[in-house]
Amino acid sequence: LHIAVLMGGWSAEREVSLMSGSGVADALESLGHRVTRIDMGRDVAARLAAAKPDLVFNALHGTPGEDGSVQGLMDLMGLAYTHSGMATSVIAIDKVLTKQALVPHGVPMPGGRVVRSEDIFAGDPLARPYVLKPVNEGSSVGVAIVTADGNYGEPIGRDVAGPWQEFDELLAEPYVRGRELTTAVLGTRALGVTELRPKSGWYDYDAKYTDGMTEHVYPADIPDEIAQACNRLALEAHRLLGCKGCSRADFRWDDERGVDGLFLLEVNTQPGMTPLSLVPEQAKHNGISYAELVQAIVDEALK
Ligand code: DAL
Ligand code: MG
Repeated sequence: LHIAVLMGGWSAEREVSLMSGSGVADALESLGHRVTRIDMGRDVAARLAAAKPDLVFNALHGTPGEDGSVQGLMDLMGLAYTHSGMATSVIAIDKVLTKQALVPHGVPMPGGRVVRSEDIFAGDPLARPYVLKPVNEGSSVGVAIVTADGNYGEPIGRDVAGPWQEFDELLAEPYVRGRELTTAVLGTRALGVTELRPKSGWYDYDAKYTDGMTEHVYPADIPDEIAQACNRLALEAHRLLGCKGCSRADFRWDDERGVDGLFLLEVNTQPGMTPLSLVPEQAKHNGISYAELVQAIVDEALK
């Protein structure tokens, strides 16, 4: 096949996407496909039209790329592409819309409220500890955890420039103490549970992308009941949102509260494909190599 790999772009996760995209493009070449690498710019439509690929492998992360805009463009152009479609992407990139879509169906997620970023200087929007995060970013960009005695993450202060000050609105969510878990879905199969144990205590951008900063435990050392709940909820969220191909569900688990302490944080419709990313790692634990995973995502797109 002739496959265009869309990567980069101008989201806050540009660098992550370039790593995902080059890994995917190399794998596709090793599988014998003809590959056109496209670092997305404003001329993306013209470049896709010129390339005339059989399929677009979407390796973009964040906004735009994971948010439905590029998916809508490809729909209009009549191009087949990997991962989720436009409507699903619009909902899943938005952590508030995701709650609205999933919580009524019984998927446990932390409550939360949207606050104007300027308002957080006036006082705490929720009882501490809580998390402030942009509504539609990935890789923990712009996330702050406000604890009883201060905050971790982007600085909070009127005079301190932080990337999250670029956001008009932020989502404030109660902080779920305990453990960080994740489950990939490939096709109709959940791939098990990985626990992330960041050495710094926080699974932030650096802990995600710096080798050695986070221990990945697979299978997670958790009760069967919790592992089964993660697999079930990951599949259910994938299905309820209408995800296609591959997604990854991220959880927090308060291990002092049993299964009642398990909360889905979000569903990633364009999960990372970098050397330290979790979907390729879980696939490998399931006997699926990186190249086989990439081919499986291609096959799902052509179904
Ligand atoms: N947002 C990053 C790419 C991930 O979920 O893996
Ligand atoms: Mg995410």
